[in-house]
Amino acid sequence: MTSNDISEWSYQFGLCYLKNTQKPSYYQELIDHLNAVQGYDGWFTENYGGLDCDGESKQADGLKKPWQIHNTRKLDGVRDEIDALALSEIEKAVALTRLLLAMDKVDSTLGHFTSYLREWSSRSYKTRQLEIPLLFANSTNNTVLKGDIFTSMQSVAVDFAYFDPPYGSNNEKMPPSRVRYASYYHLWATICKHDKPALFGAAGRREESSDKLAATAFEDFRQNDAGHFIAVEAIEQLIASVNANYVALSYSSGGKATALELNDILNRHGTLIKTIELDYKKNVMAEMKWTNEWLRESDEPNREFIFLIRKEPIL
Ligand SMILES: C[S@@+](CC[C@H](N)C(=O)[O-])C[C@H]1O[C@@H](n2cnc3c(N)ncnc32)[C@H](O)[C@@H]1O
Repeated sequence: MTSNDISEWSYQFGLCYLKNTQKPSYYQELIDHLNAVQGYDGWFTENYGGLDCDGESKQADGLKKPWQIHNTRKLDGVRDEIDALALSEIEKAVALTRLLLAMDKVDSTLGHFTSYLREWSSRSYKTRQLEIPLLFANSTNNTVLKGDIFTSMQSVAVDFAYFDPPYGSNNEKMPPSRVRYASYYHLWATICKHDKPALFGAAGRREESSDKLAATAFEDFRQNDAGHFIAVEAIEQLIASVNANYVALSYSSGGKATALELNDILNRHGTLIKTIELDYKKNVMAEMKWTNEWLRESDEPNREFIFLIRKEPIL
């Protein structure tokens, strides 16, 4: 198996879950050691730690914060210790994955880091504890890549490729920076890199997660000069250039126009053999009976699909 993502945190998850060959119990000592590390007032506390002011997260600098200070102190201590220990690349990835999952459980956000809640979430009062991730002891030699998909794909030939790209929003009023993974999860990148970057804005984002620097074509909701959606064209390029016999693609309907364009692409570069609609509210999947059924009008503005395409072989 080969995985690829452009973000640092996905790379660490990939190493943790796809490259690990040890049983989960191998990591118990490391996790216990990290849980015992003393916290202190470091860089994360200074920038992202808040005190509880009668249930509100209002700080001296006037900014809301994603974590209460008892958890950022632990984060400061543990993140330093991960670098101080002589860990292998995979051990480090297991520790970082677990640290991110633990911090995620005690945050005071709506699931991303472009803004923080005014009142502390109830979970933010808890103290985060590290546990062993749900690991597999891999027996195959998997490959984990970090890079732009169009570059990474050039060296990969597979039977089956699964793409789960960001879904561009068709909401023209929404600032593009709000729907970009780099800005949603800038804090995960900062914890992995531990590079104490320059920050900007009320949410304290990494400099390179700004609008001008963090654009990927999949997250662009605009149309190009020829009147085609840039995000849909990027998906076309993906499907057209991947060296695979079968391609599965996750997609969330961003409106009728993008759906029609996407339907053309799916049929232009292969044969659409199955479409599944996922209903997250009801937690069910439904297989579409005929290939164009997914294009029907629906009251539901955001519908999620997985398409399975048989590709024509690249000549
Ligand atoms: C919908 S998420 C998929 C997440 C992944 N399937 C998972 O479950 O963790 C979209 C992912 O695409 C990545 N991404 C965006 N543009 C990319 C590009 N040009 N090349 C590679 N990955 C990209 C983002 O970093 C993000 O993790």
